[in-house]
Amino acid sequence: MSQLSKKHPTTESTDKAYASSRVLIIDFGSQYTQLIARRVRELGVYSEVRSWRSQDAIAHMLKEDSKENGPCAIILSGGPESASVSDAPKAPEAIWDAGLPIMGICYGMQTIAGHFGGTVAAAEKREFGRAQAKLDTTNPLFEDLDAEQTVWMSHGDEVAQIPDGFNVIAHSDNMPVAAFANPELRYYGLQFHPEVDHTPSGIDIFRRFVINIAQCKCDWTAGTILTYELDKVRAEVGADEVVLGLSGGVDSSVAAALLNQAIGKQLHCIFVDTGLLRQDEGRQVEEAFRGHFDMDLHMVDAADKFFSALSGVQDPEDKRKCIGELFVRVFESEAAQFKNAVWLAQGTIYSDVIESARHKSAHLIKSHHNVGGLPEEMNLKLLEPLSNLFKDEVRKLGLDLGLPAELIQRHPFPGPGLAVRIIGEVTKESAELLRAADAIFIEELRENNLYDDVAQAFCVLLPIKSVAVMGDGRHYGRVVVLRAVETSDFMTARCARLSADFLDRVATRIVNEVAGISRVCYDISSKPPGTIEWE
Ligand code: XMP
Repeated sequence: MSQLSKKHPTTESTDKAYASSRVLIIDFGSQYTQLIARRVRELGVYSEVRSWRSQDAIAHMLKEDSKENGPCAIILSGGPESASVSDAPKAPEAIWDAGLPIMGICYGMQTIAGHFGGTVAAAEKREFGRAQAKLDTTNPLFEDLDAEQTVWMSHGDEVAQIPDGFNVIAHSDNMPVAAFANPELRYYGLQFHPEVDHTPSGIDIFRRFVINIAQCKCDWTAGTILTYELDKVRAEVGADEVVLGLSGGVDSSVAAALLNQAIGKQLHCIFVDTGLLRQDEGRQVEEAFRGHFDMDLHMVDAADKFFSALSGVQDPEDKRKCIGELFVRVFESEAAQFKNAVWLAQGTIYSDVIESARHKSAHLIKSHHNVGGLPEEMNLKLLEPLSNLFKDEVRKLGLDLGLPAELIQRHPFPGPGLAVRIIGEVTKESAELLRAADAIFIEELRENNLYDDVAQAFCVLLPIKSVAVMGDGRHYGRVVVLRAVETSDFMTARCARLSADFLDRVATRIVNEVAGISRVCYDISSKPPGTIEWE
């Protein structure tokens, strides 16, 4: 295998021409920045997020790309800092000379105000939550919208004095400047958040800014995404060979299907069965990728290796580390047969890229290293064909590529697999118990048309035993917990409101059909404070 340098995902790439228009989103650290990017893409316009710190890259982008493929509009995100302090994060200078329409949201609005000599101060009444705003519907940003709108506020500061050349275009009872505009420069500021669902007309405001005002073209559509990604992969890879770790999850599956269509037999896929997978996962992957796509797929049964490595390991982080390291070793030894491979493909998606850039120094809650991570010593070039796409775009692409809907719509599954759902030591027997119980829960959700209503559902196996009376005898069996959550972003979640009858049925089936399990509980914790997984 060739000794080439390793490249990590980065938000600083200067790839060009995803579509004829693109919107540059400058991130000041708001929890909603990704939502802004997604809203713009929902309009069919390509969008890209850059940190406010990337001054040089942004300046280069605005200069180099000029009018052809350069951004056609800029959006400044919100952020946790106060724009009223002297060392507050500032937008890169280059944006003010670009002659492009700019829309600032919350902190982004305040930074526009600050730049042009307005003042920002702590709001008399901090506002968090829904508010009623009165809009000036003669302004192009709000044209044809209802003059009174529910909007979502989340701020401690506000624009106290607007800069010269700007005028107020929205206000609320608590806030004299809920939005402002400079029509000549085409600069807009919104104190509220149009990107969240709680601002029902938010998407209409984006449409007015991105399409009417900035005149972006809407050609970021399913068809163009596929053509673009295929062309890009072919240009990048040429005649090289590529190795890909296929986990059966959505991202690696779509990456495999895309590469298969782009480069066919130059792609070698490796599926490692860790013994910690969901029921039938290996068979489904084999059916879809070898059966349907006729790919070069290598199935490795490494379950025994994983169980012996996990023997005696109790701590969740130790489990993750142990699995991650062994996975890399197994993967490397299998991949060694592909002597001509130059690339290692991964299913990294755009949210991963944005998050990894932003949270480099963030506090570790759980190490979400993905099994299938890049082996350090292999020194392959990293190919990330999905790194510009959000999850919903990846799913659409997968369907366009002909992957079965069942695989594409599947609930997320953690890299370390069932190991983080078996509390305490992981053994082959406990994995089998959990897999059997989990399969019943999932089967019942599907049969009752509930699978797509919950974002993630699974079973957890506890390290305790409980009494059951079965027939005439007392039994001590293991306890299983059912976990099902509703969430759209997995950052917050609440337990799914499954009916008592349904839960009863699942519990009865599990106790009757899985020998060794005597009791079933339902987890009603929300996230936060509880996480979705138990470990
Ligand atoms: P938590 O438990 O942090 O889960 O609320 C949020 C989402 O992340 C998944 N998850 C993981 N994914 N490796 C992964 O690839 C991991 O170690 C890991 N831990 C949690 C979890 O299933 C949920 O979708």
